[in-house]
Amino acid sequence: MSKPNLSGRVAIVTGAANGIGAATAVALAAEGARVVVADVVTGDATVAAVRAVGGEAIAVHCDVADPEQVAAMVDTAVEQLGGLDILVNNAGVGGGSAPLHELDLDDWNRTLAVNLTGPFLCTRAAMPHLLASGRGRIINIASTSGLIGAPLAPAYCATKGAIVNLTRQLAVDYSNRGIRVNAICPGYIDTDLGGHRASMSPDQAAAAHERREAAAARQPIGRQAQTDEVANVVVFLAGDDSSFMTGSIVTVDGGCTTTFNHG
Ligand SMILES: NC(=O)c1ccc[n+]([C@@H]2O[C@H](COP(=O)([O-])OP(=O)(O)OC[C@H]3O[C@@H](n4cnc5c(N)ncnc54)[C@H](O)[C@@H]3O)[C@@H](O)[C@H]2O)c1
Repeated sequence: MSKPNLSGRVAIVTGAANGIGAATAVALAAEGARVVVADVVTGDATVAAVRAVGGEAIAVHCDVADPEQVAAMVDTAVEQLGGLDILVNNAGVGGGSAPLHELDLDDWNRTLAVNLTGPFLCTRAAMPHLLASGRGRIINIASTSGLIGAPLAPAYCATKGAIVNLTRQLAVDYSNRGIRVNAICPGYIDTDLGGHRASMSPDQAAAAHERREAAAARQPIGRQAQTDEVANVVVFLAGDDSSFMTGSIVTVDGGCTTTFNHG
């Protein structure tokens, strides 16, 4: 298998200031893509990490739920980096932790706005440029919570399930027009999960990490993943080695959706 050479291509990664998005921006840049780091918080650290691997990136402030900010971000990508070939819809929020009858309407609406309307807006704004590219790629970061239920996460599961089927739908409309659309469903990935740990005391953060590791230990691979283990799959889907893949829903979950947890 050849190495995915993405030189000459331009990628937007939303939510790229942290976690999976940051690792994805670096991994795409390491293969030669020029990357827009789009986020509501500063993407400077990601841009520095991209430069450290010899890549090129710019940070653009963008709330994916805001149509005007999304349009401006896509325009900046095209004007400053010279086109658009790859869109990674990664930005996401957890969506509140409660059973549905106790879930705040504001939490529900914000989760839909970021996790579902966000990818809609980014994809809509990017589409003319992806069509012009002739080798457009869309990679949606969904979740195992889009395939199975997760406790106390009705809004999150609803949005991730919707992104899974939106991926298939987009593949139907655009695959014969030069654009491949795929989704990745990560399982337990070791990230800060929306700044949860950053807002905790060191002891609380360590305990939260411990709880997640314990949950991850019950899945077949038995641990959480590092962010580059997802980013590497994004690079594969963005490159030409995945040339016959479209509408695919790719689990990167240590096997957690393969079996009932007997533990
Ligand atoms: N970490 C996991 O275990 C896991 C598992 C399955 C799926 N995912 C999905 O992976 C994606 C990335 O998650 P992560 O764990 O890296 O999270 P993270 O919190 O580390 O990073 C998410 C980034 O998205 C940004 N963001 C939030 N709202 C935004 C908005 N409105 N506009 C632009 N940027 C915004 C945040 O500022 C942050 O930089 C999400 O879609 C998440 O649902 C994560």
